[in-house]
Amino acid sequence: MSTLSAPFFDALLEYHHRGTTPLHTPGHKGVAAPCGLEKFLTPLGLACDLPSMDGVDYLSHPRGAIAEAQRLAAELWGARETFFLVHGSTIGVQAMILSAVGPGDTLLLSRDMHLSAFNALVLSGARPAYLPGTTAAEIEAALDEHPEARALFLTSPSYYGIGRRLDGVAALCRARGVPLLVDEAHGAHLRFLPDGWLPSALTAGADLVVHSIHKTVGSLVGTAMLHVGGGAIASERVQAMLNVLQTTSPNSLLLASLDLTRRAMARDGRARFAEATERAVDLRRRLEPLALNHVEGCLIDPLRLVVSVPGMSGFDVERRLNDEFGILDEFCDGNSVVFVLGPGDPPDVSDRLVRAFESMSGGQALLPVQRGQAGAPVLHIVMTPRDAAFAKKETVTLRAARGRISGEMISVYPPGIPLVCPGELITDEVADRCAELATQRACVFAHDPTLQTIVVL
Ligand SMILES: Cc1ncc(COP(=O)(O)O)c(C=O)c1O
Repeated sequence: MSTLSAPFFDALLEYHHRGTTPLHTPGHKGVAAPCGLEKFLTPLGLACDLPSMDGVDYLSHPRGAIAEAQRLAAELWGARETFFLVHGSTIGVQAMILSAVGPGDTLLLSRDMHLSAFNALVLSGARPAYLPGTTAAEIEAALDEHPEARALFLTSPSYYGIGRRLDGVAALCRARGVPLLVDEAHGAHLRFLPDGWLPSALTAGADLVVHSIHKTVGSLVGTAMLHVGGGAIASERVQAMLNVLQTTSPNSLLLASLDLTRRAMARDGRARFAEATERAVDLRRRLEPLALNHVEGCLIDPLRLVVSVPGMSGFDVERRLNDEFGILDEFCDGNSVVFVLGPGDPPDVSDRLVRAFESMSGGQALLPVQRGQAGAPVLHIVMTPRDAAFAKKETVTLRAARGRISGEMISVYPPGIPLVCPGELITDEVADRCAELATQRACVFAHDPTLQTIVVL
């Protein structure tokens, strides 16, 4: 089938045009839902909101249109096999970890993981061994220290668009028979960038790679793909784990969105991303030296723009950008704001950002900024994630929580990187960080988002 076809989307239309009387789910029967949803979805869209069935195919056991759509996606992204996901990269991360490790196994991973990776440890019963850093030398040393590790899980690029070439790490893993799993949720577009920027993990030879297609490529929110690259983990195992986690009723409009987005990328993805990259490079040049675009030893995603204004916290910059200039960034931290640029940006976006930052820096000479978010606190793991998840818990004040074992995960979203996880000691450092977070405008994911109280074991 041609790369410019959209097999799943075509299957939906074909069913619709057959004019079958739908005495089956969904309950809205393909006509205007009386709830007001029809204001969002066209009659054709509603009619094509179909369940899994012959002709349309089954996501859990694809053999028709979904299988073909996934095959075309694998071809485009350079994978051996690709799975469509309707629960975001969250489910992709969990399926890849469940495919690689089981109860009692050790998973080597970097602590800049998304919270879904920790939740995968709860599901699998595996033990985390956190990497001290992610240079090739640090990874090699960690593999030496943990010969029992059953897989290595990395997150790349980071939320700041920073990553490393993974070829060396992939070769190291292959030589030791340790599967390399990469959460590339923010890098689905890397393959379509001009040469010289951060390459995709699939190109480097990773075994399993997750892409939030919705984050940077343009499918509907919640859609993602899990790719099988190298041969360390069998596709059948991945499909089986996905079937443990995903619904048996995947929304057909979400699946169609993946199919159509893949077709659009096959058609002109490279050209669109080349143009967006050119605009982003020009914008960086105009914002220099506010734009943080270089980290020693790393490669970057040119479309992730990290900007700092001396003398202002990222939270203040975000608020002013939003209130005074009508611009909303992807996320901010104490130092900087982070923008996701892309082919769909309005044409005047560069001029507006430059004007906004000139205004915020008060017409003064733009000074180079210091990168330097506080690193992750030193970890003291007392209990496995699964044991901690099922242990008895109580809620205490932050003061009383010092020295206790956390019973919950606390993170700032985005990016959703855990500050502390269930089963870890709430050290003074962690408690101080919580107290500091409570004073910031950060969106905290915790039992008590004000962090006055914490769940402990
Ligand atoms: C690194 C990383 N991995 C996984 C995810 C989960 O992605 P999704 O929201 O598509 O489930 C996120 C979400 O922000 C993320 O930042």
